[in-house]
Amino acid sequence: MTKTPYDPAREGAQMSFDGRLSYGDYLQIDRLLDSQRLLTGAHDEMLFIIQHQTSELWMRLALHELDAARTAIAADRAREAFKMLARIARIFEQLNSAWDVLRTMTPSDYTTFREGLGQSSGFQSHQYRLIEFAVGNRNLAMIRPHAHRPELVALLEAELARPSLYDEALRFLARSGLPVPQDVLNRDLRSHWTPHDGVQAVWEAVYRDPKAYWEAYELAEKLVDFEDYFRRWRFNHVTTVERVIGFKRGTGGTAGVQYLRRMLEVELFPELWHLRTTL
Ligand code: HEM
Repeated sequence: MTKTPYDPAREGAQMSFDGRLSYGDYLQIDRLLDSQRLLTGAHDEMLFIIQHQTSELWMRLALHELDAARTAIAADRAREAFKMLARIARIFEQLNSAWDVLRTMTPSDYTTFREGLGQSSGFQSHQYRLIEFAVGNRNLAMIRPHAHRPELVALLEAELARPSLYDEALRFLARSGLPVPQDVLNRDLRSHWTPHDGVQAVWEAVYRDPKAYWEAYELAEKLVDFEDYFRRWRFNHVTTVERVIGFKRGTGGTAGVQYLRRMLEVELFPELWHLRTTL
């Protein structure tokens, strides 16, 4: 006896979308799926493109959350920011797991389409630079690869004009009555962050008496948590790169693995790491 196939319409599933907003309409799936333009006929190029595009989508969400987290901290709604900062850390955890998919691509696979990439590289990801600028790692040299796209330069410049996540955290500490040095509160926002003994002393005070400064303490741990996941992302990236291209130069023109190893040393919230030694 043949069984009639199950028809979800019987229990109310909407089957007609003439004039109604559908899943594909809402999510613009056509546009999304039209964005994988392979330049070579290589099988693995699809993986390479999707891995980068999905990373950019998650970065977009991270920026959205970073924006709101900073606004919340600036308005002394730190607890609201904690939720967003926890989400950002999870986004990076997600991106960290994603490397496992890319690692299935061998050096032989990559050479089948590497030529097609020309000089393009993640080094030119403006969203990655926006994230770095937003959290506090501000290196003006990183704007130059976007000079041919004034609207991206404007985005990066707008970010530099705004206090970073770390700046907002320190302003929050000052408003909580902690003695954050004035030169830090009045600093040139565009300038590169240099570790400051006075800032470290303030964070130390928080860690010595968490109960007295619970929100500041929780904020500090959220920042460390984010940086921890971000560091893992950098480490996974450099390890994947070594596995795929060894010590060849990058398509973006840097020394490749040597450059990325150097980036592993960048500290986003240096005082929060340094205090662990002195506490
Ligand atoms: C097999 C895959 C990959 C290889 C071989 C690779 C290689 C490289 C290399 C050599 C660099 C240094 C700049 C250069 O000279 O090109 C770089 C930078 C970068 N890549 Fe990748 N990459 C890969 C996958 C990815 C993925 C999936 C992403 C996700 C968006 C990504 C994002 C970045 C970013 C953001 C930078 C700049 C890092 C910084 O300046 O600190 N890469 N990549």
